[in-house]
Amino acid sequence: MNLFSSFFSSIKSPTVKELIKNNIPEHVAIIMDGNGRWALKRKLPRSVGHSEGAETLKEIISVSIELGIKFLTVYSFSTENWQRPQDEIDFLFNIFVEKLREELDSMQKNGIKVKLIGKREGVPHYVLEAFEDAEKKTSENSKLILNIAFNYGGRQEIIEAIKKIHKEVLKKNIDIEKINELNFGNFLYTESCPDPDFLIRTGGEYRISNFLLWQIAYTEFYFVKTLWPDFNRSDFLKAIYYYQKRERRFGRV
Ligand code: IPE
Ligand code: IPE
Ligand code: MG
Repeated sequence: MNLFSSFFSSIKSPTVKELIKNNIPEHVAIIMDGNGRWALKRKLPRSVGHSEGAETLKEIISVSIELGIKFLTVYSFSTENWQRPQDEIDFLFNIFVEKLREELDSMQKNGIKVKLIGKREGVPHYVLEAFEDAEKKTSENSKLILNIAFNYGGRQEIIEAIKKIHKEVLKKNIDIEKINELNFGNFLYTESCPDPDFLIRTGGEYRISNFLLWQIAYTEFYFVKTLWPDFNRSDFLKAIYYYQKRERRFGRV
């Protein structure tokens, strides 16, 4: 352990009560990475890592609500993840369907609104049905907007946006000259959602992997080695603590 990492791990995890005295990010995005390595370390199949990862997400959602975070965007399946073995893809899809069904009541009770962000085309019918059912049944909720990035790719999202704009221009509904940095976002999957204030990536990789490319222009980044299934309440609170120490300048002095 070097000096830097021992310094990091020596910080005591703050409490929710302490954190809410300061600025809480309105929108947190998470690249939930490291499920496979978590399982590998234990000589278990990768699928066990994904199941554990789903438990972590449940905990992080509940802490997000305690903190008063308004938007939580989680990367759960990228357009690049289609390159994984079919059995792993099938397992992931089944787990999404199972969890969406299992958690529906609790999401209702806790005011969580689910939104699928990603390309719906190409998603197997049974998976899309579970997502759309959860979207419909939670559509009146507003405490926490849970954007699930599924079959999501940032570059593809931007291209789709351009195509939507082109269609509107052809129909003469919009003037291309009126498209600007503010309203371009309305054509993305995230639509009216504000840009993420804070992006966490677990699993130790220092990359974005095609996540929210347009939206993260001024997001604060936090990369942590902890594998997603090990990432817990206190790790999340610590991350928020570090966010609160950042000075966001947006180009100003
Ligand atoms: C993240 O964990 C989950 C998905 C990408 C679906 P990984 O499965 O990428 O885990 P590692 O990176 O191989 O450890
Ligand atoms: C990013 O993780 C996608 C998700 C967490 C869903 P990956 O594991 O797919 O990313 P790379 O391959 O390491 O860039
Ligand atoms: Mg990974």
